Amino acid sequence: MFDKKTTCLVVVGSQWGDEGKGKLVDVLAERADFVVRYQGGANAGHTVVIGDSQFVLRQIPSGILHPRVTCVIGNGVVLEPENLFAELDQLRDRGIDTTGRIFVSDRAHLVLPYHKLLDAASERSQKLGTTGRGIGPAYEDKYGRRGIRVTDLRRIECAEHLLTDRVDRANRLLEMMGSGDRARYEDHLELLQRLAPRLLPLAADTGLMVHRAIRAGRRVLLEGAQGALLDVDHGTYPYVTSSNTTAGGAAVGAGIGPTAVNGVLGVVKAYTTRVGNGPLPTEAESPAGERLRELGGEFGAVTGRPRRCGWFDATVVRYAARVNGLTGLAVTKLDVLDSFAEIPVGIAYRLDGESCEEMPAEVEALGRVLPIYEVRPGWQQPTGAARRLADLPSAARAYLDRLEALSGVPVRYVSVGTRRDQIIEV
Ligand code: IMP
Repeated sequence: MFDKKTTCLVVVGSQWGDEGKGKLVDVLAERADFVVRYQGGANAGHTVVIGDSQFVLRQIPSGILHPRVTCVIGNGVVLEPENLFAELDQLRDRGIDTTGRIFVSDRAHLVLPYHKLLDAASERSQKLGTTGRGIGPAYEDKYGRRGIRVTDLRRIECAEHLLTDRVDRANRLLEMMGSGDRARYEDHLELLQRLAPRLLPLAADTGLMVHRAIRAGRRVLLEGAQGALLDVDHGTYPYVTSSNTTAGGAAVGAGIGPTAVNGVLGVVKAYTTRVGNGPLPTEAESPAGERLRELGGEFGAVTGRPRRCGWFDATVVRYAARVNGLTGLAVTKLDVLDSFAEIPVGIAYRLDGESCEEMPAEVEALGRVLPIYEVRPGWQQPTGAARRLADLPSAARAYLDRLEALSGVPVRYVSVGTRRDQIIEV
């Protein structure tokens, strides 16, 4: 999707996450100079398969696997430094040199162990099905103006002072929530002192870096995590993550102005999955749901939890197209549908007997909607070797045409397998 006029492109999940953004970013990064993660944290799990090797990246942008690409963890991310170092070590052990190619915004907020204790404690009552990585509590601290940022490590005595207050506060909250867990100040202090020397050399004003790159005509990919229906404003609240996953969050979280962005690629599976709690209107009953899960390997990359599986939901994708301003669609995992004789597609909803074209704000209402299905003929042939649309069986092409018409966004990529080369550029 890069061309003379399109040099800054956002890649966003347009369902409930796990759409295969990692693979798309890996493919697009071949033509990019910078890849920037703009929100979320170690709750994401972006899987990229190269040859026989599989890489699961949580915080480092998927572009790192291309030696020419500079990767940035933007100010909108809540950073778990120990996990970042583990990822860097894992890449080094597998022969990927990241030296001088990864930068962390000095404005990014840190996720610390007390955030994970608070996440676990609130999960006991709220039951949202979070990933347990401390994401919600870290964003709460950010917006409550009591976060600890990467830049605070530059004046470690100042960070230590902040820490006394934050650990005390976390322990009071844990007590109020009836949790027996307590955060230890000494452990947190030791952690910050240990992290600072390795993290600070990576810290930079990354918004300025990205801004300069765009001004110089370099190609920049802004990589979203999770999906539109998990966005804290536009998702199935309260069953959402705590950041703006949608394209509007990309400029804020990368530290650039919105006018710099000139394309938004929405990534969707050819069906639908969701991990965690909350409504999933087109969830398939077993055995079809089970079959999608098995064929698609639908188990969480971070938590290993089985994903809930169902059929393509056009109401969801139309909504995601609107709130993200999608200019193109990437349809992934088409091959997972290869063996189905019939493939239902959710084209609209009925809510309390009335037709419902738009996503209701109330999660209870979304839980009550009845999807209206159109049943498409399957193609019952393998598609994994297709490299052009013309290589696909006609029923598969008709399926894609239908998804395009229903979502109102042109299909630009079709992924037909986990490998890097299993992609069709339309
Ligand atoms: P949190 O982001 O850990 O607070 O989790 C909030 C919700 O978002 C839960 O339903 C999680 O399962 C979901 N979630 C968070 N990250 C991802 C992801 O990368 N893929 C899919 N779901 C996610």
